[in-house]
Amino acid sequence: MSELATIILAAGKGVRMQSAKAKVLHTICGKPMLWHVVEAAKSVGAQQNIVVMQPDATDIQAAVTGCEFVTQQKQLGTGDAVKAAQVALKNFNGNVIILAGDCPLITPEALQDLLEILPKADIAMLGFEAEDAGAYGRLVVSGSQVKEIVEFKDANAKQQEITLCNSGIYALPAKLLFELLAEVKNNNAKGEYYLTDIVKIAAARGLKTIYALAEEADVLGVNNKVELAQAEAVMQMRLCTQALENGVQMIAPETVFLSADTKFGRDVILKPNVVIGENVEIGDGVEIGPFAHIRAGTKIGAGAKIGNFVEIKNSKIGAGAKVGHLSYIGDAVLGEAVNIGAGTITCNYDGFEKYKTIIEDNVFVGSNTALIAPVKIGAGAIIAAGSTISLDVSADALAISRAEQKNLADGAKRFRSKKSKK
Ligand code: UD1
Ligand code: CA
Repeated sequence: MSELATIILAAGKGVRMQSAKAKVLHTICGKPMLWHVVEAAKSVGAQQNIVVMQPDATDIQAAVTGCEFVTQQKQLGTGDAVKAAQVALKNFNGNVIILAGDCPLITPEALQDLLEILPKADIAMLGFEAEDAGAYGRLVVSGSQVKEIVEFKDANAKQQEITLCNSGIYALPAKLLFELLAEVKNNNAKGEYYLTDIVKIAAARGLKTIYALAEEADVLGVNNKVELAQAEAVMQMRLCTQALENGVQMIAPETVFLSADTKFGRDVILKPNVVIGENVEIGDGVEIGPFAHIRAGTKIGAGAKIGNFVEIKNSKIGAGAKVGHLSYIGDAVLGEAVNIGAGTITCNYDGFEKYKTIIEDNVFVGSNTALIAPVKIGAGAIIAAGSTISLDVSADALAISRAEQKNLADGAKRFRSKKSKK
């Protein structure tokens, strides 16, 4: 196979997002849209993955790995954005795939479909039949040959009725790409350099400009928060289906929210209303929920049980541990077979810094305990219910830290008679 590079466009303003954050950094299933696109791009095994970004976009650079970055100085349109990648492809004679950073649902399979038609084409692209074509560019075709792509704002009434849309994903030889781009002008409704114009220019030269049909759900363009929510729903459904196929049991999968990188062992059960953040690993035989929030950076050991109204953040939960009810476990390391009573809270934050709680194997923490971090509870220790623990507890010790109780005989009676006289 000839050499391959990908160009991923991520320099747009994203005005319709109504946000201070770059459009492609909005997340879907816990990961930036750009991350999802880069993952798909990596699946084709290109020698270079080039991300086009705005000047000094360090947040874009931090969001992905395995890419090189080029800068588009001014946001003059998708054609101008692709031109910015030319510097990175100076001595490159292979093919490029162009992807948009706001098309996060693209799959490795769809990219394979694109590459499959490339040998028969000068420009290959992915088109799709849109349920609501909205503002997508329209493919004006004759058979499988695309004569031109017309942007919605530039389309006449008849062209606006076309439902075959442009995904914004193309493959073609790099040399041809930059040759065609040099001819693109900005005399259109938006005054931008449209990448889509290369198709009309190529077709006029008698080149083969061919499309393959993609599923709409794989090429959804995300320009605003409505579309972001739609893309989230599609990807959640994909992740849940994948997890179910891999043997995770879910009672109500439509109420479970996973991250793109959630890892499951065998025989995991997720009960209704479970939300799982980034970088979470769930071991064999773990049960979670209903109503549990497993936040970023958490690892749950084999056979552990996490019950209702429990939030766990950046913590390691040992094998067989039980955190059954109404607890917050943050920045903690729990050993094996630890039992956390209802309402236990790790007090991990003083308003400035986060502190660790270490609970060793076989510790029993009674209900309604506050563990004031940093604090360490030695193996086999017991914490009496209702304790506020601010000092380390040694192994096998029994710690009690609560106000002593006084019972006043007939006190209730006296109180009632005093009140009723008023
Ligand atoms: C584009 C296509 C449209 C297609 C749709 C698919 C053009 C002219 N139109 O429209 O035919 O149906 O995608 O979703 O290409 N970007 C830059 N620099 C710029 C402008 C954009 O890097 O100067 C990036 C954006 O970050 C985005 C991508 O290019 O990731 C697409 O840009 P966007 O403005 O969203 O194009 P659409 O109007 O959606
Ligand atoms: Ca778009």
